[in-house]
Amino acid sequence: MRYGFRVPRPVGFSSPIIERMLPYSEACERNKGPILTALGPLLGDARKVLEIGSGTGQHAVWFAGNMDWLTWQPSELPEWLPRLAARLEAEAPVNLAPPLCLDVREHDWSPAGYDAVFTANTLHIMHWPAVQALFARMSELSPGAWLCVYGPFAFHGRHTSASNIAFDRSLRARDPGSGVRDVADLDRLASAAGLRREHDIPLPANNRLLAWRRAAEEPQD
Ligand SMILES: C[S@@+](CC[C@H](N)C(=O)[O-])C[C@H]1O[C@@H](n2cnc3c(N)ncnc32)[C@H](O)[C@@H]1O
Repeated sequence: MRYGFRVPRPVGFSSPIIERMLPYSEACERNKGPILTALGPLLGDARKVLEIGSGTGQHAVWFAGNMDWLTWQPSELPEWLPRLAARLEAEAPVNLAPPLCLDVREHDWSPAGYDAVFTANTLHIMHWPAVQALFARMSELSPGAWLCVYGPFAFHGRHTSASNIAFDRSLRARDPGSGVRDVADLDRLASAAGLRREHDIPLPANNRLLAWRRAAEEPQD
């Protein structure tokens, strides 16, 4: 596994002026390194990874650039696709695919054929029916494939920090359908789709990387 070095071959170009015009998240810049450290070893054998809700594209560019053994497939809701595409056009390494239009609530997508699905900071934004739809689709993953989710989570109704309590309150005040999700609820959805949680990796700023894996098929008699 060639983990941790960057592919020095951007497609297109990125000048300081263009960089300033691209969508940007300071949090992405802070968390992309720690996420890669946790995610890279899990994806050592992966060839194709689907990212859901790629946002600004900073994660996609960073992860593809640092995991050159796999193809990274970013995606976004239709309304955010143009700004994601702008960053990818400016910075995409060769193993970063053009972004897909993907809304987890729709029926026109599938994780089939991907070795892993990754999503960051999305489950607390999506309403619960969308979270359910995302996990239900994971039943289409091949045996051994991963669902890796980064973000803040609660455990059995308890938040892991005061800052996550405040974050959860602010999310729900803005949008009552959103909110920090409980790992026990996610485990139930994962289990119904045939996945089992294998990793819970604490990361900076009270975030975590959770990784569920689709069970290997039982050998036939
Ligand atoms: C807080 S942003 C996180 C963006 C990026 N992953 C990051 O970590 O910075 C939440 C993302 O979830 C996406 N999202 C929300 N609902 C979605 C849905 N139903 N299907 C797919 N993506 C969705 C939004 O478009 C947005 O990009």
